[in-house]
Amino acid sequence: SRADVAEVVRTHLRDIPDFPTPGVVFKDFTPLIADGPAMKTLVMDIAGRYAGRVDVVVGIEARGFILGAAVAYELGLGMVPIRKAGKLPGQTLKESYSLEYGHAEIEVHTDAFEPGQRVLIIDDVLATGGTAEATAALVERAGAHVTAIEVVLELAFLGGRRRLGGRDVNAILTV
Ligand code: PRP
Repeated sequence: SRADVAEVVRTHLRDIPDFPTPGVVFKDFTPLIADGPAMKTLVMDIAGRYAGRVDVVVGIEARGFILGAAVAYELGLGMVPIRKAGKLPGQTLKESYSLEYGHAEIEVHTDAFEPGQRVLIIDDVLATGGTAEATAALVERAGAHVTAIEVVLELAFLGGRRRLGGRDVNAILTV
């Protein structure tokens, strides 16, 4: 059930205080991806929600790559990476955004999508929503359609969901 998957996530995340900067409690995802059965539960849950509804999966650097690739594989779909600026080799579109702790720029290849492709965006955490908002903007600028945004963990107190307007946002665990 939905509650069971949330419990698997809850019991496999670990809090790291003062990372990457003092005062930030980092939600460490490595125990979750290190556990085969937990990872399988998570990936099957996400894939089941989108089977037949999306054409391609977008993974956000870096932890969204791990989950996005696994979900794409399960669905028999391809995965498009959204990367920090300067990493993608081809021609790119770029968006700037602010983070809970800092500022960043992300990019996508201009030819990453077929026109109108239905996209599932995947990441580990929705915090302020800046990353997901910039990702959705890149997907749309590149000519595709954002069907949904799926995250493992939503930090609701940071209000990221509000920034994503009327989009379909699903979090497996919300704190
Ligand atoms: C983290 C996380 C999300 C983003 C969420 O990535 O993995 O991508 O921040 O924050 P937001 O909702 O406030 O935008 P980070 O920027 O730390 O990059 P990394 O995964 O490459 O370490």
